[in-house]
Amino acid sequence: MKQLVIATHNPGKLREFLSLLAPQGFGVTSSGELGLPEPDEAADTFPGNARIKALAAAQASGLPALADDSGLSVAALGGGPGVFSARYAAGDYPSAFARIIEAARGADDWRAWFTCALCLARPDGSTATYIGQAYGRIAPAPHGAGGFGYDPVFIPDGYEQSYAELGPAVKDKISHRAQAIAQLKAVLKG
Ligand code: IMP
Repeated sequence: MKQLVIATHNPGKLREFLSLLAPQGFGVTSSGELGLPEPDEAADTFPGNARIKALAAAQASGLPALADDSGLSVAALGGGPGVFSARYAAGDYPSAFARIIEAARGADDWRAWFTCALCLARPDGSTATYIGQAYGRIAPAPHGAGGFGYDPVFIPDGYEQSYAELGPAVKDKISHRAQAIAQLKAVLKG
């Protein structure tokens, strides 16, 4: 069986990757399970950081590695927090939700979008990057307990409920991560 390392220590992302990659016939492990260190996300773009994480895991494990760098962009915050989404929350998501909702209300602009840059790296240093985006709006109050991160405050276009309320059956079909993985799957099949 082909082996793939998912270069993440984030259990929410890992669950989505396992579900999205399950039908591909890969033996999957994660950099968390392997005890690999988390590299510094020193780039200021999603693809730049995905590449850093994927290359670090591929070189440390000797296996192909897949990393994602992702985040929420809010129109009322000029596209932020974007690549700084994890740092903007600093572990306190209720506070981050309140700041985002206040900004959207203040600007009367609720548009938001998630971006996922996915990088597949091989131990020889070669990389390929895929980008998925999902557009929607900020919810006027957080709703739902599913998912992770900003899921309770993001309502994707075409729906009336947040990612957290819609749950994996819907999110895994439409999300930024699902869209990037769909591009990758076409390549992995080859
Ligand atoms: P990263 O691990 O440095 O890429 O940080 C990504 C951060 O963006 C996560 O910790 C979440 O705060 C946020 N994020 C990325 N993808 C999602 C998602 O699918 N739902 C909710 N929040 C997300």
